[in-house]
Amino acid sequence: MIVDFQNCFLFIPLCFFSFICYSLFFKKLKDSQVGCDFLPSPPSLPIIGHLHHVLFSPTHKSLQKLSSKYGPLLYLRFFNFPVVLVSSASVAYEIFKAHDLSISSRENPPIDDSLLLGSSVFVGAHYGDYFKFMKKLLVTKLFGPQALERSRGVRADELERFYRSLSDKAIKKESVEIGKEATKLSINSICRMSMGRSFSEENGEAERIRGLVTELDGLTKKVLLVNLFRWPLEKLGISLFKKEITYVSNSFDELLERILVEHEEKPDKHQGTDLMDVLLKACGDENAEHKISRKDIKALFLEVFFGGTDTSAQTTQWTMAEIINNPKILVRIREEIDSVVGKTRLIHETDLPNLPYLQAVVKEGLRLHTPYPIFVRMFQERCEIKGFQVQENTTLVVNSYAVMRDPKSWEDPNEFKPERFLGKEEETRSLKFSAFGSGRRGCPGSNLGYIFVGTAVGMMVQCFDWEIKGDKVNMDEAGGINLSMAHPLKCTPVPRTEAFISNLQIS
Ligand code: HEM
Repeated sequence: MIVDFQNCFLFIPLCFFSFICYSLFFKKLKDSQVGCDFLPSPPSLPIIGHLHHVLFSPTHKSLQKLSSKYGPLLYLRFFNFPVVLVSSASVAYEIFKAHDLSISSRENPPIDDSLLLGSSVFVGAHYGDYFKFMKKLLVTKLFGPQALERSRGVRADELERFYRSLSDKAIKKESVEIGKEATKLSINSICRMSMGRSFSEENGEAERIRGLVTELDGLTKKVLLVNLFRWPLEKLGISLFKKEITYVSNSFDELLERILVEHEEKPDKHQGTDLMDVLLKACGDENAEHKISRKDIKALFLEVFFGGTDTSAQTTQWTMAEIINNPKILVRIREEIDSVVGKTRLIHETDLPNLPYLQAVVKEGLRLHTPYPIFVRMFQERCEIKGFQVQENTTLVVNSYAVMRDPKSWEDPNEFKPERFLGKEEETRSLKFSAFGSGRRGCPGSNLGYIFVGTAVGMMVQCFDWEIKGDKVNMDEAGGINLSMAHPLKCTPVPRTEAFISNLQIS
């Protein structure tokens, strides 16, 4: 068992507080425990309920253990927060098919005025007019098929930059941190697609934003803890992790404010049509369909940077690690790319539909190493699930890590076998494959995610062989909410052959 010492450190004072809380809040606790307690539930502790199960990292694994022992549909309680934990495709499918609208909110009431936890958040927003307005803009300007077609050139440019950076390392025989390079690819692409410029490498801006995204990644578990413990700790006048959350939030705020001002000052530079222009226009328009503030714009950009960069970069890194550990898979992808793309140009994203094996490899990478192993919603009304009544305001937690490694749904669930996806689409529809969530609040960036990972992995296999220290890549997972590698993948690119590289036509 891996013990996260920071959480252990938290756990001890929390147990201590439990005694105080017990006398202060016992009645309130009892009142709130209505409804779900007829669902199967593992043994719990007084006051903290099942909290001790999630304090030990990684959370998705602790929850997977619980579900394999007690079943795929469980009732849990963290203090007075009722939670329904779902860990199988059939239960998740039933919930999303019958109750998608009732679970289309995340409903984290704002804690302070920050970009991270304040009232402007998009990912945590209630499924109402504000959310629908922002989502419509995201789809028309960033994620929809036409928007993706318009921004194809930007991504092709960034893929070539990525290729050049790897070639440079190959010439110098230097190793590369795949996760860092993949983060550059996705963050530069998303910035150029959404605000017409990327962060400059020269003045340290790019490094700063990448650092902030990494810090944000480290904060996700803390943000979750803040949400869980808010009720008892607020009563005791304690603000958990306030300093760290405020620091990251303010740093993003400052950076994004500078970009907003620059955008307003030079509107012709980007023809006034990118996502940032449209949001700024709506912000200044009294008659806009929905009134939005500057803070709303900054919070949305922060969430899009975070939602789109770390996820794609982690998936690219894990998938490359699996490919390096399975050389036969590398050979098969390369044969497919050579036969479809040829040997004189780099892979394009328009090749992806003709590369079914590469697509299957990416999907298998997402199945085994899904970057968001758990996703969270809120029941907004009373629902019946598998004959059990679930009360309004109960949190729904879907452990997609457990769903995608469930031996009832997958043969050899822990093995990397891309062939399982060849010619199969029903896994996604039946929610056996749930890396992007589902329903109205499912990931809007899934197509873009497939493009980033597919082209990055495709190019790395098409153009280079890979050397690592030792025989195999260490596949241990780091603790935490997001699924990242305990030992980030570091490897050295070796040009496939001199002839291949010199024939390649790069603009
Ligand atoms: C490999 C890549 C990706 C994975 C695995 C992934 C996964 C997810 C998951 C599991 C959710 C929660 C879904 C749910 O609650 O049902 C989500 C939501 C979201 N993702 Fe992604 N994502 C990826 C790429 C992206 C990209 C490239 C972007 C944007 C550039 C993005 C933006 C978002 C946003 C804004 C949400 C919140 C949607 C909402 O609240 O309605 N994601 N993603």
